[in-house]
Amino acid sequence: MENKIIETKILTTSEHDIKTAAEIIRGGGLAAFPTETVYGLGASAYDEDAAKKIYAAKGRPSDNPLIVHVASAEQIKDVALEIPKSAARVIEKFMPGPITIILKKKDTIPDTVTAGLSTVAVRCPDNGTARSLIEKAGVPIAAPSANLSGKPSPTKAKHVINDMTGRIDAIIDGGSCRVGVESTIVDFSSERPVILRPGGVTYEDLKNAGVDVDIDRHILETIDAKETPKCPGMKYKHYAPNAEVIVVEGEKDAVQSKIKALISENKGKIIGVLTMFGADYDDAVMLSAGDTNRKYAKNLFSALREFDELGAEIVFAEFCERDAYALAVRNRLYKAAAQRVIHV
Ligand code: TXA
Ligand code: MG
Repeated sequence: MENKIIETKILTTSEHDIKTAAEIIRGGGLAAFPTETVYGLGASAYDEDAAKKIYAAKGRPSDNPLIVHVASAEQIKDVALEIPKSAARVIEKFMPGPITIILKKKDTIPDTVTAGLSTVAVRCPDNGTARSLIEKAGVPIAAPSANLSGKPSPTKAKHVINDMTGRIDAIIDGGSCRVGVESTIVDFSSERPVILRPGGVTYEDLKNAGVDVDIDRHILETIDAKETPKCPGMKYKHYAPNAEVIVVEGEKDAVQSKIKALISENKGKIIGVLTMFGADYDDAVMLSAGDTNRKYAKNLFSALREFDELGAEIVFAEFCERDAYALAVRNRLYKAAAQRVIHV
């Protein structure tokens, strides 16, 4: 579908502006909004044509379903057929929060939203603006991350403004996102719950809450083009900046001497380093990932976009496992690096 250029309103998080965005959504338009994970690109989850506009605005393949956002746990009943016991436990412990659950869908949700699947992904965000928007819209909101397809997810309003101006009706500027990577996705539609995407609610968090889950083996692997993964989003190239990204993973000293060697092998290129350890490399543009994996999650997407602005041709990313966010960070980082990972 050809995209028509439309006027994009930049809104604040005031009551008045949230109402404006809610009216846009109720009227079949598109409005981007902040959540605690990343910015979402919202439309009424009951409106098939509005959902089609989301795919067009992002350039998203139509076989990649959208997450339906609700304002409260109560509202899940409007979109899901049934809530298994283990899912009810997750709802009670972690919602609102950075987690999405896959449930069997009700007919209220059109096929365009779920890309023809019989399941629906549901999430209740822990962000006041997001929940107020859903309440005021009076409908659940279908929303993927508000980036152009293939680009890093937006964690600041300026990222959305860069990608979506002229393509959507409004953008609510709610500052920086607290978590910085997308929600954990857990599939409850088959016998045993499975983590399809790691995120702000960790495997350890789930285990400690008594929720017994498996981890999908695709999380740290590349998907074979012939396979059909459970989470359609897994098979697409993601988070890719213009630069070639190479992850160097291990303890500080080994990582830094490897990166120094790589920098001298790549003389003449514009080199970026995403650093956890805060080293000082000559001949490279440095951005800080933070010294924990939690901070890394918050900074990663923004840093990938900044390296593009700086014109980096090659980016070396220091990585060392430090806390339970390691899985979520590795998952995004390995994808950004197209699985080019050097273990030292
Ligand atoms: O944190 C988040 O989840 C953000 C914010 C905006 O809420 N949203 C987000 O949406 O990351 P998106 O569209 O970028 O990623 C949704 C992922 C895709 O990989 C998609 O394939 C998967 O969820 N998904 C959606 N519905 C599904 C379903 N019924 N079964 C399996 N996977 C599903
Ligand atoms: Mg996305």
